[in-house]
Amino acid sequence: MSEVFAIKIQSDPKLDNFENLLQCVSSEKQARIKKFRMHEDALRALFGDLLVRYAICSRLKISNVEVVFKLNEYGKPSLEGFPYFHFNISHSGEWVVCVTDSLPVGIDVETIRQIDMGIAKRFFSKDEFAFINSKEICERVDYFFQFWTLKESYIKACGKGLSIPLDSFSIRMDEGGISVLDINDNTEWFFKQYGIGAGYKMAVCSRHDKFSNGIETVDTLQLSKFFNV
Ligand SMILES: CC(C)(COP(=O)(O)OP(=O)(O)OC[C@H]1O[C@@H](n2cnc3c(N)ncnc32)[C@H](O)[C@@H]1OP(=O)(O)O)[C@@H](O)C(=O)NCCC(=O)NCCS
Repeated sequence: MSEVFAIKIQSDPKLDNFENLLQCVSSEKQARIKKFRMHEDALRALFGDLLVRYAICSRLKISNVEVVFKLNEYGKPSLEGFPYFHFNISHSGEWVVCVTDSLPVGIDVETIRQIDMGIAKRFFSKDEFAFINSKEICERVDYFFQFWTLKESYIKACGKGLSIPLDSFSIRMDEGGISVLDINDNTEWFFKQYGIGAGYKMAVCSRHDKFSNGIETVDTLQLSKFFNV
């Protein structure tokens, strides 16, 4: 089953133990986090790593020091020594989310913002663009971000990042549910959209349709306690 975890990083003003929490991730990740110019980006990267460590340690009953990540050639992280444990991370605005699964999985959260529909014309498939344009003008931004998160969750589940052209596959939303049409890959994929709050869209893509109904939300205090810092 896919399980979804989330942390709202600005809901807790007590971030004075940033330095202690930083010690809970690998030295390579610490170096990457320290390079961010914007503190918010550093926080998102740190809490993404911590959230997935929390999910891994609590589900696999291993300790944080046993958690070692490796990256595939496109940068998708996975857990060393546990080939049947899959996960994926996403962050946007105040939200950091992750999903765990026994099969390849992808997740994407996006802040809904005003966008130029030329982006959809340029990057989405013809069918997706036509679907968005068939909607009332006031609904189009909402649909844009539904497609965006569904498409991102798919390429993140495949693990190949943007080496998969965004217009090379098409997401379909109809009465039958959500599916993907990809002429280069006939693997069956399943999707679920989660409501994570006004102003955000979020989607998960998995090889099966056993998705958790809800999201396990943790806060920074819980994580500090969990990691004993
Ligand atoms: C890197 C990418 C996989 C996701 O990027 P993103 O949407 O900007 O970022 P997200 O917050 O959703 O995901 C970032 C996390 O994905 C994971 N990730 C990195 N490479 C990945 C890959 N090839 N496959 C799956 N996950 C990957 C990492 O855990 C990363 O976390 P970190 O940056 O803290 O290390 C890639 O798809 C990308 O660059 N997308 C650009 C966004 C875009 O233009 N989308 C078009 C709209 S359809």
